[in-house]
Amino acid sequence: MGVNHTLAHIYSNHLTEEPPQFPYLCFILSGGHTFLGNVHNYTEIEVIGQTRDDAIGEAFDKVSKFLGLGYPGGPVIEALAERGDSNITNFPLSKFKEKSLDFSFSGLKTAVLNFYRANPDIKKEDIAAGFQKTAVKILLNNLSRYIEKNRVERIAVTGGVSANNYLRKEFKRFCSERKISLFLPELKLCTDNGAMIAGLGTRLLESGKIDNLSLDAVSRGLT
Ligand SMILES: Nc1ncnc2c1ncn2[C@@H]1O[C@H](COP(=O)(O)OP(=O)(O)OP(=O)(O)O)[C@@H](O)[C@H]1O
Ligand SMILES: [Mg+2]
Repeated sequence: MGVNHTLAHIYSNHLTEEPPQFPYLCFILSGGHTFLGNVHNYTEIEVIGQTRDDAIGEAFDKVSKFLGLGYPGGPVIEALAERGDSNITNFPLSKFKEKSLDFSFSGLKTAVLNFYRANPDIKKEDIAAGFQKTAVKILLNNLSRYIEKNRVERIAVTGGVSANNYLRKEFKRFCSERKISLFLPELKLCTDNGAMIAGLGTRLLESGKIDNLSLDAVSRGLT
């Protein structure tokens, strides 16, 4: 059974007694992907926006590497940011001229690197906090723009970056203010795990899908 890894990340929100009902809006935030989409069923997601350059997790990893903090960057940036002041400067939010709901994290990453080079005395904690706050703001800005024009009752977030506590807190605040139900995977199910692959594989088997053993690996994409 061939299981698409990115769709399996979505399935991690179904490994619970009360999974979201279809359809729902979902962010997939991982080391290699950044998608916002409408999930119609286990295998059909209609993409609303995706990154045009770095994935959000990749941005965490690159900023961490630049600060000399190693891989994976997410957990270490998160821990530093807890002790930092996120108001050191206003890092830029990505914007496209057209009405696109795509994302860009490469500009933010570069702005952070340039700011640190120009201000080497600034504490790494503050840089981490400023970067993390802006990364989450980029997501919530696009979400706000989508919600202005579309009725949304349920939102899920998944992928390694959904383990970030600051992100989880900000999404909870955003959704509770708008009476939207929010679904987040258990922490251990956010990053790559076998349960999400086995779970989605089981659903596919139940639906009668069977692959032969000649499948090739495909490193990117949703289908
Ligand atoms: N607490 C955290 N805060 C922010 N980012 C995090 C956190 N924990 C993990 N990450 C990030 O999540 C990414 C790894 O997640 P995941 O395992 O879902 O991605 P991947 O499998 O590498 O990518 P993909 O699924 O797109 O192929 C890394 O970029 C890592 O820095
Ligand atoms: Mg993954």
